[in-house]
Amino acid sequence: MMQIFKDKVVLITGANRGIGLSLVYALLHYGVGKIYATSRELNKMPAFNDDRIVRLLLDITDQQQITTVAAIAQDTEILINNAGALSPGNILEGDLLGMENDLEVNYFGTIKMMRAFAPILSSNKSSMIINIVSIAAYSPLPSIAGYAASKAALLSATHSVRIELAKKGVSVYAVNPGAIDTDMNKGSDWDMPDPDSTSMKILEDIAAGKLDSVPDEMGQGMHAAWREEPSKLAQLFSDLYHA
Ligand SMILES: NC(=O)c1ccc[n+]([C@@H]2O[C@H](COP(=O)([O-])OP(=O)(O)OC[C@H]3O[C@@H](n4cnc5c(N)ncnc54)[C@H](OP(=O)(O)O)[C@@H]3O)[C@@H](O)[C@H]2O)c1
Repeated sequence: MMQIFKDKVVLITGANRGIGLSLVYALLHYGVGKIYATSRELNKMPAFNDDRIVRLLLDITDQQQITTVAAIAQDTEILINNAGALSPGNILEGDLLGMENDLEVNYFGTIKMMRAFAPILSSNKSSMIINIVSIAAYSPLPSIAGYAASKAALLSATHSVRIELAKKGVSVYAVNPGAIDTDMNKGSDWDMPDPDSTSMKILEDIAAGKLDSVPDEMGQGMHAAWREEPSKLAQLFSDLYHA
């Protein structure tokens, strides 16, 4: 099943830490041919010591850098839009600049990446876009409301691009984790899976053809509540917020 990654050329954003870095190692494990591992600061990335890795500078809010990377990475077959930002705070009192940044990175940055790579992926047949979204796209947790809105927007954009590219040989996946033990959740006392095991699960779900995946147990519980009745997930987040 994991053969689908064998010899593939992959580009990952935010590959220097967290889920992005774990995805690099998981993909190397499954025999990919090349990974463009991108980060907004090259010296933040490990050396990797694997000649399948090409390290590239990329801030996904910087159109110039996106254009440069797309010109280099013309053989990309799998684009993983992992880079993301989270500014905590609710809608009524949260920091507006933080909310704008979450939208700029998570929504507009990912859109810019999809626009730059759609022609490349369309000409490299049987290709994929994998967007790391969030379970917060389904219902807002008010303590991270700006982030949730940016991810809801990203989920919508992901589903639109899935249809837009359906006849061009590009499959578009949305991965919606619950809570994973990365810097994004620093300080949380929740019991969370680590990014390495999560990345393996993400790749298994993709290989199994799950277009909308929820890779972790907590996320799956939240998703099940939402599927049963959207107000059930809203109630769960209300309980968490007011606790
Ligand atoms: N952890 C969770 O519970 C969870 C749940 C659902 C979804 N997600 C999503 O999973 C993805 C990875 O998050 P993570 O948990 O691994 O968090 P993380 O450890 O905080 O990593 C975030 C990554 O995104 C990069 N990034 C931020 N802004 C960027 C920009 N403008 N251009 C390029 N890269 C940028 C960061 O680079 P720097 O090191 O330069 O800041 C870092 O590599 C994100 O999209 C996040 O929203 C995470």
